[in-house]
Amino acid sequence: MEIAAIAALAPVIPVLTIARVADAVPLARALVKGGLPVLEITLRTGAALEALAAITREVPEAVVGAGTVLDAAQVKQAMAAGARFGVSPGCTPALAKAVKEAGLPFLPGIQTVSEALVLRELGFTLLKFFPADAAGGTAWLKAVAAPLAGLRFCPTGGIGAATAPAYLALANVACVGGSWIAPQDAVAAGDWARIERLAAAAAALKRA
Ligand code: 3PG
Repeated sequence: MEIAAIAALAPVIPVLTIARVADAVPLARALVKGGLPVLEITLRTGAALEALAAITREVPEAVVGAGTVLDAAQVKQAMAAGARFGVSPGCTPALAKAVKEAGLPFLPGIQTVSEALVLRELGFTLLKFFPADAAGGTAWLKAVAAPLAGLRFCPTGGIGAATAPAYLALANVACVGGSWIAPQDAVAAGDWARIERLAAAAAALKRA
């Protein structure tokens, strides 16, 4: 599945930083049950790759990708664990080359118009706008809509239930990413019902 088709599956991509492998499958099940099948597991914990593999194996309804992919080695590791897509906070020519060669659907991060143009030249038309809130939020996205008419974005970083609707109302926003759907305290407590409710509310958000 291409990255645009993956982004079209749900309005919100939960960004999951998993500390305990045992949390991975019940967490993924709660999110999928709530209506969010696209999951990003950040490669920022020792448990990340094993968590990704466990969800891939045991929750086939989920479309699981790896986040915080920074280099070619992590592209390989993520794919070996079963990642169906990758996400990065920014991008380099080497990383872009690695994902193209590996055939991994990819959502590369950008923060500026020039970064967006470099990725456009490399053939990427759906970009992660990161860190969205800190880098200008909806005002930035509105301002670039006309000059970057061929590009769409998945804003991520500092977005919550209260601010997601304003992002999703923009025509150049394909979906948004965020961690608010899976609060660390709910994960630690195994409160999967709360996470399912948060996911259901996020899944019901309307897109432009
Ligand atoms: C991240 O890298 O953790 C994501 O961008 C999520 O950001 P958030 O926690 O602000 O939603």
